[in-house]
Amino acid sequence: MNLSDRPRRLRRSPAMRRLVRETRLSVEALVLPLFIREGVNVREPVPSLPGIDRYSPDRLPEALDAAGEAGVNNFLLFGIPNGKDAEGSGAWADDGVVQQGIRAIRRHRPDALVVTDVCLCEYTSHGHCGMLRDETVDNDTTLPILARAALSHARAGADVVAPSDMMDGRVGAIRSLLDEEGFTEIPVMSYAVKYASAFYGPFREAAGSAPGKGDRRGYQMDWHNRREAVREARLDLQEHADMLIVKPALSCLDIVSDIAAISPVPVAAYSVSGEYAMIRAAGQNGWIDEYGVMCESAVATFRAGADIYITYFANELATAIRKGDIG
Ligand code: PBG
Repeated sequence: MNLSDRPRRLRRSPAMRRLVRETRLSVEALVLPLFIREGVNVREPVPSLPGIDRYSPDRLPEALDAAGEAGVNNFLLFGIPNGKDAEGSGAWADDGVVQQGIRAIRRHRPDALVVTDVCLCEYTSHGHCGMLRDETVDNDTTLPILARAALSHARAGADVVAPSDMMDGRVGAIRSLLDEEGFTEIPVMSYAVKYASAFYGPFREAAGSAPGKGDRRGYQMDWHNRREAVREARLDLQEHADMLIVKPALSCLDIVSDIAAISPVPVAAYSVSGEYAMIRAAGQNGWIDEYGVMCESAVATFRAGADIYITYFANELATAIRKGDIG
């Protein structure tokens, strides 16, 4: 081979490496989940998510200020009510915990982008994501309740609603009710591809939302399946989903890539609680370089095709991006 035909390595200097990077990250693409606890003057740690706290609405400003300092402006809200019932009525109560949280955020950071998780599992006494009939989740009776929850979030001031329940037809049900009630501009960010994953463990501890009996495999996806993810995404697009979520992220990068390839709308990857917990725990033990693994996992997710990254590391990543350590 003629020596001048040899491909040159573009890795010689930091500046050159930066110039030719294929994946670039933006602080604006990060979304920080927030756990909102009913009550007053509560800020309590989540044992399985070191560094993540649950806040009552009045103390949310502390979380918002920390995020603001890091440059994070997008939030995904989860509610933890004091009381639960069979219908999950706390999910759509006007003065429900998430609704209070939305208003608190609106007051403190009017510029923040507020996405709300729409689901029933935190609000139902049985811990399932929908209505139970004879011990199984009944898809169709759940739909109007989810739509009602989404509407109450929109009324409280949410910018985006994100149904995570995995019932069939819920994107359409939510869209119709929002439109009827005049919220035509509020987008639906659908958890289109959500696997029945063991990686949600710490979240269920944080939100007190583990099902009392049974599991979620009847409505969440089987992680043996890849083509089914594309089918789920297409169904949600037919119902006019405005953004799609794939979750978990790290164990589903093939899926993120598949969905990014077919999706006409933005794709979010959700790096879930178990991913954060693993990285934190191994880091705290000195077994891995926590900062390096956090950065690499984030970049890998964007490299797979994600447009938006939902992560408990949002503040730390934003700082890494601004320092120039990644992207
Ligand atoms: C609610 C919901 C869950 C998560 C997001 N929305 C829990 C579940 O489905 O059991 C998990 C998020 C995480 O693990 O960080 N259905």
